[in-house]
Amino acid sequence: MDKLYDQFLLEYPDYATTLSIDGIREAEYSRLDRDGHVYLDYTGAGLYAESQVVSHMQNLLGTTFGNPHSSNPTSIAATQAVESARASILRFFRADPAIYDVVFTANASGALKLVGESYPFGPGATYLLTFDNHNSVNGIREFAHARQAEVRYLPVVLPDMRVDESQLLAALQNRDPQRNNLFAFPAQSNFSSVKHPLEWVDLAHQHGWDVLLDAAAFAPTNRLDLSVVQPEFVCLSFYKIFGYPTGIGALIAKRQALGKLCRPWFAGGTITVASVQGDKFYLAEGHTAFEDGTLDFLNIPAVEIGLRHIEKMGIEKIQTRVRCLAGWLLQKLGSMAHSNGVPLVKIYGPTTTQARGGAVTVNFYGKDGRAIDHRQVEELANQHRISLRTGCFCNPGAGELALGISRVELDVCFHGPGHEQRLSIDDFRDCIHGKSSGAVRISIGPVSNFGDIEKFLSFASELLDQ
Ligand SMILES: Cc1ncc(COP(=O)(O)O)c(C=O)c1O
Repeated sequence: MDKLYDQFLLEYPDYATTLSIDGIREAEYSRLDRDGHVYLDYTGAGLYAESQVVSHMQNLLGTTFGNPHSSNPTSIAATQAVESARASILRFFRADPAIYDVVFTANASGALKLVGESYPFGPGATYLLTFDNHNSVNGIREFAHARQAEVRYLPVVLPDMRVDESQLLAALQNRDPQRNNLFAFPAQSNFSSVKHPLEWVDLAHQHGWDVLLDAAAFAPTNRLDLSVVQPEFVCLSFYKIFGYPTGIGALIAKRQALGKLCRPWFAGGTITVASVQGDKFYLAEGHTAFEDGTLDFLNIPAVEIGLRHIEKMGIEKIQTRVRCLAGWLLQKLGSMAHSNGVPLVKIYGPTTTQARGGAVTVNFYGKDGRAIDHRQVEELANQHRISLRTGCFCNPGAGELALGISRVELDVCFHGPGHEQRLSIDDFRDCIHGKSSGAVRISIGPVSNFGDIEKFLSFASELLDQ
């Protein structure tokens, strides 16, 4: 192990600049090693430091918070805490408060739904999105369809699963400038870990598009600097960045873009005036119009604590650490082969660290060249207390492409007898004739270390010659 670690440091010397994180892991995440966990599902959820929970509890115990929809002392305390958290989010993402506003949501999906249900789609408008989006971005197409907008997908191309830029340009040029046009893409794919160029935001603007940037998988291990890249809408979930609290996300939106959205309803807290007899309502300004009912005012202060913790670790340091560990994992796992030469895994997406994040998605193959069911791999990993994610990660476009599931197969399946209304996952597996219906994702995060990767590689080597 020591020799391997030396070799790793030799090949990835930048890792040495992140060693302060080892101390933080020991002090703040000791439960991982105490319980023998090899946690490799950071794209699923980040992990919290002990001090985040302690600070939050101290904050709750030291103050009395009331419902913020009032102006009594406890209500004012809650409002101040919420507004302080809102300001800390803008600071963390270097967003100018004159340009951007923060809407608190339950998670990234909640932020996406707000945009989808309120974006002024209509006949002639276009919703353009890449193939490798999360389902919560795909789901916006239902709002677009309902309002007769056109929905267009931009393919990603195997083997790296990136977009061909000439196709992107052609797609951006193909729109009606008189209509509202929205382009959505993930800053980092939660399937292939591809980091799409953030320069696309400016490019899309030059062609008159609004941009929805899904930063849910990107923000936890990369700097998102909204003073440089300025999409209209950004969505994210805080538990993915620092683990605690769950249940809070944000839509970070340009104030101007929020003004363009048309909410389909009003709710408690979102209006200045609503009348029963007059059958009329007036929406409040900015984020207030989008935060339905009472905010999670006791947990929101924990967001500020979490962001401070990430600042302390250093997001650039986290990015470097994740890149080094991912590079080693890609290199070692990608070169494992059975004694007859059959490779142990197929990696979906880029096999180098160039413009990619720290998730590595693969399928395992037996000596006979047949795929090992991802569910079986997960069961075996569980026995080693290795936490992985398997399946399609709510990213069907990337999954279909990577796993070679064709449009014809899908059409036949979805229009098959009894499949118009219901389709179970087992029916779906039958439809795709034994092809893999999912994959295994190993995702590296802020407090991953070399030992985690080596334990995973050692587990993987047990599958050799099986
Ligand atoms: C890229 C991406 N977008 C959106 C989401 C949705 O996040 P949430 O489930 O927290 O709403 C996820 C979750 O995994 C994701 O990875």
